[in-house]
Amino acid sequence: MLNFEDFTPTQSPAGTKAQPGAGSGATGLEEISFNANRVRVDEKKIINCRADLNQLVPFKYEWAWQKYLDACANHWMPQEVSMSRDIALWKDPNGLTEDERRIIKRNLGFFVTADSLVANNLVFAIYRHITNPECRQYLLRQAFEEALHTHAYQYVVESLGLDEGEIFNMYREIPSIHDKDVFQLQFTSELADPNFNTGTFETDQRLLRNLIGYYIIMEGLFFYVGFVQMLSFGRQNKMTGASEEFQYILRDESMHLNFGVDVINQIKIENPHLWTPEFQKELSELIQQGVELEYRYAIDSMPRGVLGLNVSMFHDYLRFVANRRCKQIGLTEQYPGVMNPFPWMSEMLDLKKEKNFFETRVIDYQTGGALSWD
Ligand SMILES: [Fe+2]
Ligand SMILES: [Fe+2]
Repeated sequence: MLNFEDFTPTQSPAGTKAQPGAGSGATGLEEISFNANRVRVDEKKIINCRADLNQLVPFKYEWAWQKYLDACANHWMPQEVSMSRDIALWKDPNGLTEDERRIIKRNLGFFVTADSLVANNLVFAIYRHITNPECRQYLLRQAFEEALHTHAYQYVVESLGLDEGEIFNMYREIPSIHDKDVFQLQFTSELADPNFNTGTFETDQRLLRNLIGYYIIMEGLFFYVGFVQMLSFGRQNKMTGASEEFQYILRDESMHLNFGVDVINQIKIENPHLWTPEFQKELSELIQQGVELEYRYAIDSMPRGVLGLNVSMFHDYLRFVANRRCKQIGLTEQYPGVMNPFPWMSEMLDLKKEKNFFETRVIDYQTGGALSWD
């Protein structure tokens, strides 16, 4: 049994404990320095911070805490959405065309593993290197939301009675999906290496590159053909349950994207030397590659025009979205003058928090619920 008298507190000042690697920041797992100096807000940094990471306050990045609160206020669960109309339509041999069925299956196939890739990137690659507790608080919330998204796709797959093997293996069997995920995994694998540490010019740029790869390209571009397609079903009063799941997910994803933009811009503010012309060129090329990969996915998922959509609209839309993403992080727009062929998506994307477009929602978590212990 542990005798408290045997416990000798560490008396060293803050910041003198062994650090994980040359130049890199704290992890939050360092030995607890007994009686160390209290954390001051001006010691906090978004990367390479050595101040104690286990103390949420004092806040430095109010935007991160506010996004955490907003995300919690938007809580939802996949099974709150009724799938009964979708099931009837899916089972009706004349309910949907083959092209429509292909779109639904492709999107479930892409997203059901994509959200696992995003969650794994957060946990294995990003979290360790974001050395700020209020940002980590949001990352933990985001990780849970990615689990909810995977849950939502699984709920739709199960409700419709789709072949799970076919859907879950699409990222290994369908080239347009496989290529997007291979592109993404390059960002994760590098940072997930236990020997990778930030704190040098090169590694700090690699972290920034990963953040842009995931928040800007994966969540900010690779999700958008699917979102337009699935929301288009709902706009035509078809597959309204699946469409509503995607609406909830879009709302979460648009916050993930905005959080990512804030993190990227904060790293830039604190480390302006990283944003070299060569690095900007490399990032612009990655975004262009992303546009091409997503366009190929649009062609593959929708070889013929359907639901009032066609691939040339996606050609413009992806360029429009890419321009917007570039602008958000201070890169030059890559496709000047492109117009948005889906202005209705902008309404969905620029959601005001208070806007109630989920009118069918069953439970409002913001009002709180009574706990029952029996
Ligand atoms: Fe997600
Ligand atoms: Fe996300």
